[in-house]
Amino acid sequence: MSVLGVEGEERDDLNRAESAQIRARSLRLLGSLIRPMRARLVLSIIVVVISTISQVAGPAIIAYGIDTGLPALIGSDWMPVAFAGLAYLLAGVTGALLIAWFTVLSAQISQAILFDLRRRVFLHTQRLSLEFHESYTSGRIISRQTSDLDAIRELLDSGINQLVQGVLYMLFTAVALFLLDVESGFILLASLVPLAALTRWFQVRSQTMFRRTRVASARLIVTFVETMTGIRAVKAFRTEKRNEAEFGGLVEEYRATNARVIKLFGIYDPGLVLIGNVAVAVVLLVGGFRVVDGGLEIGVLLAAVLYTRRFFDPMEDMAMFYNGYQSATAALEKISGVLEEQPSVADPEHPVDLWESRGAVAFDGVEFGYVEGRPILPHFDLDIPAGQTIALVGSTGAGKSTLAKLVSRFYDPTVGRVTLDGIDLRQLHPKDLRRAIVMVTQEAYLFSGTVADNIAIGKPDATREEIEAAARAVGADTFIRGLPNGYETDVNKRGGRVSAGQRQLISFARAFLADPAVLILDEATASLDIPSERLVQDALQTLLADRTAIIIAHRLSTVSIADRVLVMEHGRIVEDGTPEDLIAGTGRFAQLHASWRESLV
Ligand SMILES: Nc1ncnc2c1ncn2[C@@H]1O[C@H](COP(=O)(O)OP(=O)(O)OP(=O)(O)O)[C@@H](O)[C@H]1O
Ligand SMILES: [Mg+2]
Repeated sequence: MSVLGVEGEERDDLNRAESAQIRARSLRLLGSLIRPMRARLVLSIIVVVISTISQVAGPAIIAYGIDTGLPALIGSDWMPVAFAGLAYLLAGVTGALLIAWFTVLSAQISQAILFDLRRRVFLHTQRLSLEFHESYTSGRIISRQTSDLDAIRELLDSGINQLVQGVLYMLFTAVALFLLDVESGFILLASLVPLAALTRWFQVRSQTMFRRTRVASARLIVTFVETMTGIRAVKAFRTEKRNEAEFGGLVEEYRATNARVIKLFGIYDPGLVLIGNVAVAVVLLVGGFRVVDGGLEIGVLLAAVLYTRRFFDPMEDMAMFYNGYQSATAALEKISGVLEEQPSVADPEHPVDLWESRGAVAFDGVEFGYVEGRPILPHFDLDIPAGQTIALVGSTGAGKSTLAKLVSRFYDPTVGRVTLDGIDLRQLHPKDLRRAIVMVTQEAYLFSGTVADNIAIGKPDATREEIEAAARAVGADTFIRGLPNGYETDVNKRGGRVSAGQRQLISFARAFLADPAVLILDEATASLDIPSERLVQDALQTLLADRTAIIIAHRLSTVSIADRVLVMEHGRIVEDGTPEDLIAGTGRFAQLHASWRESLV
């Protein structure tokens, strides 16, 4: 089972060089995300610094009001008191306004960064070759786009915000306290020792706990996704009970790890309060004696107590920062990994223009395997003249779809070249390649939208007439008109659901609208009933007349419309000829055809 998002957790096993590389990769990504935000970032730092200073000024102003203002007031001079009151008010208002501005600024920065990142992940994963997608499970891609981005969002939205505000607040409070009264400052400094010890203990413990909750929640998501994507198999084999037990166990594990995290807070929070209160008590006690001795003014004592009291406020949030930071860096490492992945089928640097393709396809000494040491096409030469209709038959696993994927350039050959009109596919502009070669497969995928939208994918600027003409040409028109809203039926809405065969007809219409020079049909008629298949075949005959076609089909009825039949076994062409010649012969195809004829009667 692939465990969503857990790869990063096991990175302890990686050697140092590799983790340094990964860190460099994450930093590169982070740098490229932050660079466009520089100006706004500087502004927000200035704003938060001024805002924190105004917040911290409060107790010092109170001290001034009491120690200087009150005696003056007794002497009928109300100026200092009025000044203190006004300054306090001004500091409060400034602090509040600036903190509001800071909140907006930092939200803008984090939203812009997330927007950028989300877009990059989407565009890049979409651009990557089929090879990547066949090995990188969709569950992992989903978690890159969801939980990983969420971890980063959380850090940006609250984590960094709180850290910056908290650090500044504590720093300025401590500085203010030292400026006001050095002795109280040292008492606060002494309280940092138990504070640091407690926080360190919390961090070490919570780090492993949080890692465990992340793993537990990833397991939950994977199990959920796999069960629901395989819901048909679940229902067919009645595995609900088994799944229930497994899922129940995972939910319990998640609950238990969470409960332990909560217990940690149950120790840390009261610990913080205790240290804070003891510090306040000591400041008050020592200060109280000094006030009695006349060594300290009452207002300064009050301010010192307030500062000591407030100093501990941001601690809890800051202790949490570390965890958010860790999951965010793990997420960033994984995302940067995907973003630095290069498409294995690269776009040409100097593409050759091919405006009008004739559709001649050739395999030139091609060798190909998905993995090294396991060749699927050991040595392959094939010439398909423009306009020829080829039927490609052969047993399961012979390499038919592999051949089709090479012609569509989903993969590049390991050795040799595949050409279109004599030009290596690797040199063609992707735009020309896609226009010239279209493959229709068995899993005809429909995107959300109307039937008309789905057909128009083959030619985005197609008119309604063209769309309907394409549907008529492949015999899809009748069933489409029978749908609740005809061509405007939403294929994902209830009632708009179409059958597997109807989906294939739609994807046929899509391909015919695209009007490629080379059309590849890989088992594209497998889900059609006999009448529909016959309809498609009638349509095929006219539509394939002026283009090159490679038709892969297990049903030999398709073969009758072909100019040439290729029989493929173990990645090699073992028979090659016209349908009539092969049927008349004694080879593999003649046997296949004979047993197929028997099955029909
Ligand atoms: N993505 C892949 N990664 C690794 N091996 C693959 C991949 N796709 C196919 N293969 C292997 O390549 C061989 C040929 O597969 P291919 O899909 O071309 O067969 P096929 O002739 O289309 O069979 P079928 O009639 O069942 O569709 C098989 O042995 C298969 O295991
Ligand atoms: Mg196949």
